[in-house]
Order: sequence, then structure tokens, then C-alpha cells
Amino acid sequence: MKTIFLYIVSIAVLVSCTHKSKVEESNETLKAVVKNALNNSEKQYLLMAEKYIAKKDSLPRSYESGKDISSDSRWWCSGFFPGSLWYLYENSKNPEILKYAKLYTDRVEREKYTTDNHDVGFMLYCSFGNGLRLTGDEHYKEVLLTGAKSLATRYRPNVGLIRSWDWNKDKWQYPVIIDNIMNLELMLWAANNSGDSTFKEIAISHANKTMEHHFRPDYSSYHVVSYDTITGLPHLKQTHQGYSDESSWSRGQAWGLYGYTYLYRETRDSKYLEQAKNIANFIIHHPRMPKDYIPYWDFDAPDIPDTSRDASAACIIASALVELSDFVDADLSKEYMVVVDKQIRTLASPEYTANPGENGCFILKNSAGGYPFKSEVDVPLTYADYYYLEALMRLKKKFK
Ligand code: GLY
Repeated sequence: MKTIFLYIVSIAVLVSCTHKSKVEESNETLKAVVKNALNNSEKQYLLMAEKYIAKKDSLPRSYESGKDISSDSRWWCSGFFPGSLWYLYENSKNPEILKYAKLYTDRVEREKYTTDNHDVGFMLYCSFGNGLRLTGDEHYKEVLLTGAKSLATRYRPNVGLIRSWDWNKDKWQYPVIIDNIMNLELMLWAANNSGDSTFKEIAISHANKTMEHHFRPDYSSYHVVSYDTITGLPHLKQTHQGYSDESSWSRGQAWGLYGYTYLYRETRDSKYLEQAKNIANFIIHHPRMPKDYIPYWDFDAPDIPDTSRDASAACIIASALVELSDFVDADLSKEYMVVVDKQIRTLASPEYTANPGENGCFILKNSAGGYPFKSEVDVPLTYADYYYLEALMRLKKKFK
């Protein structure tokens, strides 16, 4: 009897050791994938940086039908390329990358005076925010504070939110898009670095009202909610880039997840953590989420599976889940990391990662910018690359 018992215990120990080594093995290979992906990305982005150097005030935007698509700093994505260079510099400390990170960051500076849209948070926090984090340059701090003041001009106390867009005024009284949750990180930074708590009050009010009005009972979100400027209550809930008003546009779900994750990091308010966990649950367990966790451009696109994936949404989700995995219990953390593992291995494979020198020197292929208007579909986009590199760097730190 004793022998049988010892035999069973030995088998159990052996099985658990084998299992453990499998997990460790998987982490080891993911670590190698991350290292490789960062090294290859640096090569690709050095080519990109060289390509744009002589094009004054120009920044990469996409690459379509064999042609480079560029923008100046006014485009909402202008901060992503410099921000990506900062992540690459953080990884390798290559002085050549540092030179380019500074140079392309400078190209975005004039956006500190932007008051006609909400994207100033994306533009400045990804570029100057990362630059400040890695260099401590006081001038970057001034740019961020000026930018935060510009963004704050778009807040109306009686509505309690930052206004996203100024166009379509005959339809939307006061449009707020879910993407806007991303711009609050700049406001929270400004509160901590200026001594002016108004920035935090604005961010918290925006986060709370968004939680109240942008989300459905299943924790999916609308893209656009327009508020009545007198009552401060929604008068319309619609989409702009999604399939339909009631559908779940993938990148919008990703912005929400990322937003409430960092809101919890910055405030430690447990309601934001619950919100992030609920959004993660909606995304991860969605019946139309593919097995590799790279979502279609909209979870309700009628032609799934014969429609486009959105690598950018996957990158934002991956980066957010790596962070969120540190705030939850072990089981949930493991669940999130299984998703991230699949996403990163898929994104780093030739299916999504471009060959060196190809894809207009962008790192990733297959994102979807504005699918309903046939704009930027199945193309590379700067924000896919940015959140991919952020996810890779977060993983690198996690594996240390
Ligand atoms: N913020 C615009 C977009 O996600 O496409």
C-alpha cells in the first residue's frame, strides 16, 4: 500500500515538474521572441528614420499600394513614430536611435498649442512623455504642461468631459469618443507635475462619466457619445469607425481596456480595476475573437471570418493586458498572459511582421484605420507599431 502511495506521489511530482518546465520553457521562448522582435524592429525603424530625415516636418503615417503615406504633426498619429523610437532607445540605448527620437519628437512640438481636438494627449504623451521619462529633459516637461493646458480648454464643467471633435456640429452637440480615454494620462501627469489639481479633477470626471455612459451592460462600448450641452446627458450614442451604432468596434474596445488599466495604475481606485477586468473579459471571451487573439476590425462585422483583422487593436490589447496582469490574482493574470503570448507570437510571425526594408519600413502589417470608409484597410499604421513596441518592452521588464 505504502509503495503504491509513494509511486502515485512520485508520478504527481513528476507531472507537476514537467508542467512547470513547460511553462518556463514557453516563457523562455517568448522571451527570445520579444528580444528578436525588438532587434528587428530597430533595424526597420532606422531605415524609416533615415527615409524621412530630409522631408522637413514630415512623419510616417502608413504605406499603401507601394507608396509612403506621410503626415505633418497635425495628424492625430504624429506622436507615435517618435514614441516608438523612444521605446527602441530604451531597449538598446543605441545613440543613433536617440538622435532620431529627439529629432522626430521635435517635429511634433507645435501641437502643444492644439486646442481644436482632443488628440493632443496621443501626440504629446507618446513622444514628449516617453522622451521626458528617458532623458529628464526639462524642455519636454514644459511642452507637456503647455499641451495639457491646451487640452484642458476642451473641458466644459457642466458636461464633465473633454470634447473630442468639433466637426459634424449639426448632428453632435458635444461628441466624446471612447478613444478620448487615452488622453487622460497626460492630464494625470500634468496634475502630478504642476501642483494644479484641476488636471486630475478633469481626468477623473471624464473617466467616471465615460464609465457611466459609454458602456453597455456587457462592458462593450459605443464609439461616439454626444452629450446635450445643457443637461450634460447623452443625446446620441453612435459609431464613426465601427460597423454600426450597436456594434463593438475592436479598437474602441482596446482603447477602453487600456484606459481603465492605466487609470487604476495612476489612482488605485478599485472601480477602474473592475472596469478594466470586465472589458478584458468581454474582449477575451468574445465568440468572434479568433484563436490567435488578433481581432477582426469590428466584433460584429457581418462578413467574419472573411474580413480584415486589426493588428493595431491587438497591440493595444496586448500592451494593456501585460500591465493589467500585474494588478489581478494569479489565475486571471495567467489567463491574460496566455492571450498576450498568442498575440505576440502571431504578431512577430511573418503573417504580421514585415520583411526588412519592405512594408514601407513599418514593423507590422494588417491594421484597419477607417474600415467603413475604405480608408487605411490592411495596411501598416504607426499606432500598431507603437503599442506593439510598448507591449514588447513591458514583457521584457516582466521577464527580468
Ligand atoms: N483615435 C482614432 C482611431 O483609433 O482610429
